[in-house]
Amino acid sequence: MKKAKFIVFEGIDGSGKSTISNMLFEKINTHTGNIYKTFEPTDSPVGAVIKNILNKRIISDDKTIGALFLADRLDHIQNPISGMLNYLNKGMHVISDRYYYSSYAYHVPMLSMDWVINANKVCADLLRPDIVFYFDISADESMRRLSSSRIFLDLFETKEKMAQVILNYKEAIKREGKKDNVVIIDGEKTVNEIFDEVWEITSKLLEI
Ligand code: ADP
Ligand code: TYD
Repeated sequence: MKKAKFIVFEGIDGSGKSTISNMLFEKINTHTGNIYKTFEPTDSPVGAVIKNILNKRIISDDKTIGALFLADRLDHIQNPISGMLNYLNKGMHVISDRYYYSSYAYHVPMLSMDWVINANKVCADLLRPDIVFYFDISADESMRRLSSSRIFLDLFETKEKMAQVILNYKEAIKREGKKDNVVIIDGEKTVNEIFDEVWEITSKLLEI
């Protein structure tokens, strides 16, 4: 049996992760049927706490948030029922919308990049991606896409934050990208162009 592969999608909000990862799931599903799709933050109890912090129902602090995302990720990897290793060990390919590069990008500079990378080594040791697709779009393009689909946006604050997140992604990819086979995709091309690129790489990886 061929080894099952772990495929990750990364990028800022609105970069096209859900759109392309759903298309990829459908295409692999029609070819092999052997595919599981998942996301972070997860819908586990830890993920539920994270969502309540993100939508400001629970007040927290940056270090606690960083640690909660790490706990959510460890459960996402190792949970004996829903964990990704479980699926991979059964021979199913796994697609995840976000993984530890999201932590590198979203928790810096509140936490140092060194801290976040070191803390996530426990995850990298358990499960490294076979490939990470990073969708590169500008903060302006993200704002354009999100403002048409999400109503409550503080445009200025969010754009500033997105620009920092983009810088962090690029720095993290420079530092860690080779180890995780990160491929940078121009996320401002059309959906069809992007999907063709992603499919060309993935079909070779999965040998289908
Ligand atoms: P993410 O999951 O990264 O937040 P989505 O896939 O939800 O991003 O896309 C955000 C919005 O942008 C959606 O309305 C989607 O239809 C649109 N979109 C996605 N990819 C593209 C693209 N390549 N060009 C233009 N619009 C896109
Ligand atoms: P997500 O559910 O992908 O957001 P949306 O569906 O609204 O695009 O992720 C929620 C937020 O969590 C997103 O802004 C990125 C952030 N995040 C972190 O801050 N750290 C992490 O480790 C991860 C996985 C996500």
